[in-house]
Amino acid sequence: MSKPTHQKPERAKAKTPNRAKPIDRPAKSQTASAPSLIRLNKFLANAGVASRRKADEMIQNGEVEVNGKLVTELGFKIDPTKDKVVANGRVAKLHRRKIYILLNKPKDAITTSRDELDRRTVLDLIGIDERVYAVGRLDRNTTGALLLTNDGELAHRLMHPSFGAPKEYVAELDKKITRADLKKLKGGMRLSDTGEKVGACEAAILDDGYHVWLKLHEGKNRQVHRMFWTLGYDVKKLDRVAYAGIAHKGLRRGEWRYLSPQEVDSLFKLVGLERETKT
Ligand code: URA
Repeated sequence: MSKPTHQKPERAKAKTPNRAKPIDRPAKSQTASAPSLIRLNKFLANAGVASRRKADEMIQNGEVEVNGKLVTELGFKIDPTKDKVVANGRVAKLHRRKIYILLNKPKDAITTSRDELDRRTVLDLIGIDERVYAVGRLDRNTTGALLLTNDGELAHRLMHPSFGAPKEYVAELDKKITRADLKKLKGGMRLSDTGEKVGACEAAILDDGYHVWLKLHEGKNRQVHRMFWTLGYDVKKLDRVAYAGIAHKGLRRGEWRYLSPQEVDSLFKLVGLERETKT
C-alpha cells in the first residue's frame, strides 16, 4: 500500500478537445445485438474518467471522441475492445486494478476532477497516477469523508438514490437547536426554498447543543444546509464523519488512505454487488 501524501502534484494539462464534426451515425461495429457493446458513459465511468452522470455532461459538452470523431449523442455505444475513446485529450482505458480511496476532505477543496478557475481539487490532494473520481460531491467548505474510485459500477450504485447509502454529518449551528426542531428534523420535512420533500433521518444533539449529528439516506444538493435553513438555523461548519459506513476517523484533514479489503467488501454488500477482484 502506498503512503498517503500531502504533496500537491503537477496538474495534468488537458489537451484542447478536438472539435471534430459530431458522429451522426453509429460506428461500423455497432449493431443492437452485438454483445460486446457498452454505453459510452458507462465505459468512461469504468475507465475512471468520471461518474456516469458527469460522463454524460462531458459527452454533451463535446469533450469526448470515439475513433477520432466527436460524439455528443447520449446513449452512444462503443466496443471497448476496438474503439479508441479520448476524453479531454486523454485516451480512456479500462483499468485492471480497481482503486478505492477514502479522503478526509479539507475546506477549500472542490470535488471536481478539473476546475476551470484552477482552484485546488480533491484530486490535487491525492496525486496518484491512476485516474479516480469522487463518489458524489461535498460542498467546497464541507469537510470530511469522501470516497474516490475508478470503479464505475460501485460509484454509480453508491450515488444512486435507490440504494440509499448512509451519510453521517456533524453540523455546527449558529444557535442551540431546540428539542422541538430536532423532532422536526427527524420526521422529514419540505425544504423551504424549493418545496422538495426530504425523508425522515436519524439525528441527535451533541454536548453543547450547537452541534447536531445526523444520518441521511439521501443526497440532495446542499441538503443539510437547506434542512437547517428551513428550521431557521445557519450551518457554520459541516463535517461528513462517515460515508456508506466508512468513517474518516484516524485521518487528518487532507489525508487519505486506501480502503481495506473488508471496507471494500462492505461497500459491495451495501449496494448488492458481487466482488470479482480483490484490491
Ligand atoms: N449537505 C450540504 O449541505 N453540504 C454538503 O456538502 C453535503 C451535504
